[in-house]
Amino acid sequence: MSDELRELALELRRHLAWQEADGSRSILAERGAQKPSAPVGKAPPPIAAPKAQPPEPAVARPPPGSAVEVIARRPLDEIRRELGDCQRCKLCKGRSTLVFGTGNPRAELVFVGEGPGEEEDKQGVPFVGKAGQLLTKMIEAMKFTRDDVYICNVVKCRPPNNRNPEPDEIEACEPFLKAQLASIQPKVIVALGKFAAQTLLRDQTAITRLRGQWRQYQGIPLMPTFHPAYLLRQPDEKRLAWLDLQEVMKRFGRTPDSKKGQQ
Ligand code: URA
Repeated sequence: MSDELRELALELRRHLAWQEADGSRSILAERGAQKPSAPVGKAPPPIAAPKAQPPEPAVARPPPGSAVEVIARRPLDEIRRELGDCQRCKLCKGRSTLVFGTGNPRAELVFVGEGPGEEEDKQGVPFVGKAGQLLTKMIEAMKFTRDDVYICNVVKCRPPNNRNPEPDEIEACEPFLKAQLASIQPKVIVALGKFAAQTLLRDQTAITRLRGQWRQYQGIPLMPTFHPAYLLRQPDEKRLAWLDLQEVMKRFGRTPDSKKGQQ
């Protein structure tokens, strides 16, 4: 046998071993051909292309026993493309516009809210309604601008009549939030309200108890605080939210102007 033929036979044998290890049927059995160890009279058939791999999921499975999930770092526009014209949960039926997120894709500070309201659903931008105006003031009181930070939500589509997002809706959308955070890799996350804090921390403790305490999400410091919509209903609580935001400012070495954040 010529060297060339021997090399081809070896390559075919390696390929068949790979196929059998993979559980798929042998080409030889399918074609009724001889085993490659038998004399080979003519060149073996071309080696079939490997089976098509399923598309990469937004979030890789964590290694068993690991506290930190292994999440692929992908550009935000790729994650947005994967989300597409999302029909993964029932919120798609009532939405006008999917609200992905806005701001600096390399932000050091990310704010995570609950889900779009009426105005956000119209404009496709998070936090642009009344609660959004308050969030903008909070961000500016922290000496950042909206363009410095990144803002997104747990669910990307408006729940009907601004009801709370339901567990199946959060579950369907959560891989995309995680992928966004893995993409941005901020220095600090601020979780606005119960749904953001409880989802990211996997902790059902009430936001009144979670707020103001540093926690970690995937090794990133996370500060839970009140949602701006709650602060519009309970303005007295702005004082506590401002304490939480001042803690965040300290992490960035910024000094608050007195009282500004409570306005
Ligand atoms: N409330 C939220 O949680 N997110 C928005 O985008 C708007 C209001």
